[in-house]
Amino acid sequence: MDAAVTGPSMPDVATSRQAGETYRSLRELGVHERPEGWVVARTEDLAVAVSALELSVALRGPTHGALARLQCRMARFSDDAAHRRRRVLVEALLPDPRIIEPAAAARTAAGLDFGEAPFDVMPLARTVPIAVLAAALGVSAHDLDRVVALVGAVCAALAPGAREPHDLTQDADAAATELASHLAPLVPEGQDEVAAAISVLFQARDATAALIGSALIAPVTKAVDDCASWIEWTVHHDAPVQCTRRVARADWAVDGVVVPAGSTVWLMLAAADTSPGPIAPTFGAGPHACPGWSQALAMARGVVTAVHTAGWRAVPDQLIDYERRPNLRLPARVMLRKQPT
Ligand code: HEM
Repeated sequence: MDAAVTGPSMPDVATSRQAGETYRSLRELGVHERPEGWVVARTEDLAVAVSALELSVALRGPTHGALARLQCRMARFSDDAAHRRRRVLVEALLPDPRIIEPAAAARTAAGLDFGEAPFDVMPLARTVPIAVLAAALGVSAHDLDRVVALVGAVCAALAPGAREPHDLTQDADAAATELASHLAPLVPEGQDEVAAAISVLFQARDATAALIGSALIAPVTKAVDDCASWIEWTVHHDAPVQCTRRVARADWAVDGVVVPAGSTVWLMLAAADTSPGPIAPTFGAGPHACPGWSQALAMARGVVTAVHTAGWRAVPDQLIDYERRPNLRLPARVMLRKQPT
């Protein structure tokens, strides 16, 4: 095998303003190795990769602490039979999108108490969907703000690239333990059941916030009151989840190369064919495909419609900084202002 191909790092790819160009060049290279691991970017190779038994989603390294133990029980980080069992638990907890869309709109409308002053919508984008999902899981109004804050702490600790599981802080472990104590009474008894409830909130938070923030700055006409079409455009052309990571647990033969056991493999979901289909590539595919895609779209529609209906629009031509994540395209700040009347 030739020396690893160098080029932009994963966070640089995820936050690139020329993502289309970057992805074209990644596709042309086929399955190839870079300093951060192997990259799979062609639609046909991605279709194989998402279901390849040689590729594992499990965490590597020691799994000390409450949060790491919790993460290991989530479907997202489980392979094979354990994955199938845990995924069923997740699917049983997902609320009806028709109920959470108006709930997200109502909660957003209630949070728009900024008078006439421009404001950053990202704090709402990060919290409203989690409050809606937590309420649907049965969290009481009294505990809702606390649960939303704890999910934020867990996500900050687990943000891919931020830290490895064995470095998680005691604060994050305390947050995971407290979160579990809130959710345990609401789900059938069992540690996997609690992990499934927490995983719904954990998986939803940053990806849905990214979708909401990016939809509000989508370069599509805002003349029509069709927030659903901005969201549809965004999932296909400004994907919230750019890529996902696997580890080869055995040699994996693909596209005429052999990815050796032990390698990190990046599946560049956002590089895949973006022609409109029932589910955008950003939601993944195969056994681990996002089970919450229709809930994500529904909550994003609720939030964006409420913001728009109240007369708020993105400040034109603002420079968007993205959080430095290897897998997400998550605007750090999106300023809105009242539409001039
Ligand atoms: C725009 C928002 C979202 C995007 C783009 C997104 C995308 C994804 C992707 C790509 C995966 C697969 C990861 C992989 O294969 O490694 C995934 C998994 C998952 N997502 Fe989402 N997601 C979003 C929102 C949500 C929401 C709102 C929920 C819950 C209501 C959710 C729950 C999950 C769960 C539980 C998994 C793990 C599934 C498994 O491993 O079997 N996601 N998501």
